[in-house]
Amino acid sequence: MTANKPAKEGSMVESYRAAPDIEVLASNFPIPGYGQVAINAFVIKGSEPLLVDTGAAVDSKEFMPALRSVIDPADLKWIWLTHTDFDHIGSLHQLLAENPKLRVITTFLGVGIMGLFAPLPMDRVFLLNPGEKMTVGNRTLTAVRPPAFDNPSTTGFYDDKSGVFFSSDCFGALLSSVPQNAADLSDADLRDGQVFWETVDSPWLHKVDRSVFAKELDGIRKMAPKMVLSSHLPPAPGNMTERLLTSLSSVPGAQPFVGPNQAALEQMLKKMTHEPG
Ligand SMILES: [Fe+2]
Ligand SMILES: [Fe+2]
Repeated sequence: MTANKPAKEGSMVESYRAAPDIEVLASNFPIPGYGQVAINAFVIKGSEPLLVDTGAAVDSKEFMPALRSVIDPADLKWIWLTHTDFDHIGSLHQLLAENPKLRVITTFLGVGIMGLFAPLPMDRVFLLNPGEKMTVGNRTLTAVRPPAFDNPSTTGFYDDKSGVFFSSDCFGALLSSVPQNAADLSDADLRDGQVFWETVDSPWLHKVDRSVFAKELDGIRKMAPKMVLSSHLPPAPGNMTERLLTSLSSVPGAQPFVGPNQAALEQMLKKMTHEPG
């Protein structure tokens, strides 16, 4: 992975290269007491440049300069919106306002959910369902519903040119620190971070029929991507896919996540007010 120059001093969104034509725009979101989670968007360069998601709402000021450091937003042709959560739509409307030719690839549900918050202009959307394909310049993108997700509009995709699977929230991990390559994580950090993330993000996995879930995971195994790019994990080279799938297969039987309750919150607040500095 080749680091690019930071977009500006102190920027919380940095950019680095995952593949010759794919840049990562990454920030780290701390979850006190639990670790950090990567929030990634991706720029796919080529004859019809495409941005995968648009950063977190909380990072919207930092996102645009980081994006400009890798591409002129006026050159973008497409935004692929994997889903409508706040960590994916941060700069969506600013980009649509700046570039009148830009269109958003999403689903009917994506349009519907955005309609409750900041409607998408209908002549600017392109609806693509899981299983459908579209041609974007010199590449064919196949829409894929990932095995785990936290929002019904979720659609990832497989890019035939790079061989990369863009998995949206699936394969995310809660980590103590976030490298620029998932291969730099220890087996235990990756497995535990992935399992914890999925129990938080997709708690319905505890209720699934495991044989049905195993078939879903098999679909990714057969895809054999050259790289997995998750919104919430550093880029994972293709020889890690089996490890990613093995971690995920254990989630249905893992300890369900229960967040801190009010008593725990009061303890935390007391500690914070009594600690110097
Ligand atoms: Fe999400
Ligand atoms: Fe997300």
